[in-house]
Amino acid sequence: MIIVDRIREMQVLMHQCRREGKTIGFVPTMGYLHEGHAALIDRAREENDMVVVSIFVNPLQFGPNEDFARYPRDFARDRHIAEQRGVDVLFHPEAGEMYPGPLTVQAVVKARTDVLCGRSRPGHFDGVATVLIKLFHIVMPDRAYFGMKDAQQVAVVDGLIRDFNFPIELVPVPTVREDDGLAKSSRNVYLSPQERKEAPALYQALQAAAAAVEDGERSADAIRHLVKEHIEAHTHAEIDYVEVCSYPDLTPLETLHGTVLVAVAVRFASARLIDNVILRLPKAPRQEE
Ligand code: PAJ
Repeated sequence: MIIVDRIREMQVLMHQCRREGKTIGFVPTMGYLHEGHAALIDRAREENDMVVVSIFVNPLQFGPNEDFARYPRDFARDRHIAEQRGVDVLFHPEAGEMYPGPLTVQAVVKARTDVLCGRSRPGHFDGVATVLIKLFHIVMPDRAYFGMKDAQQVAVVDGLIRDFNFPIELVPVPTVREDDGLAKSSRNVYLSPQERKEAPALYQALQAAAAAVEDGERSADAIRHLVKEHIEAHTHAEIDYVEVCSYPDLTPLETLHGTVLVAVAVRFASARLIDNVILRLPKAPRQEE
């Protein structure tokens, strides 16, 4: 595995790979790798000649009161995991390499951002889009792999790739969970033992919502209510949002139809957790003009 921390070196290396006709699969991460990241890497390994993973805790996507400074970092461990999983190139730049000075131009996400995490984390997706534009230009992959755990991020990246004509195929990968259903996350290490016990309630609530829809429930209000009640009954967490919207447009829905995202975010004392499910329903009958 080659470890690169300079942009220029990365660009030369990637140019060489492409000249040799190799396909490149790219997995952008902020490190502290777990089985969720590993699922993205495995998928990239299956579908490409070269697998590139970036590890960069992007300051631009953290709000002033968020966990940038204490975000978990362990490069030695990440490097070991990446090597084990057959990663070819690990790109690990310093913040000063990625952002040597103030930006002249920065991305602003216009749609798919006034709901869910975009609403409670203003500027977050602008930071994500900005760093991804940089990373896509540096790596120039054929395919980029993103986890559905961050469904809104997938929706925003889908828009970014289309809007700016990146010749990249976006590959969404299903959420990897602990045995008790908790979605794997680098932030799970913040949870106290009691919070860790309560945290699977998020997925249970989403499963209950999926079951209700299966039984014929079509009211978004009823689904939101059911999810909230379950989380309130089983955790001490504060609910940030429970939302029901179309996917990937992320338009809030009153009546469920088409591809639906039910998403939740909660705040425990020291960690904010998110989770979601996608439900596939028949499309709404077309409205008369
Ligand atoms: P990070 O939180 O490190 O996540 C990197 C990728 O791993 C994302 O695509 C995320 O959705 C995916 N992932 C995380 N947990 C997962 C799980 N349990 N199952 C499946 N996939 C999972 O997301 C980011 O970093 C950043 O915003 C980034 C895209 C790197 C831009 O800075």
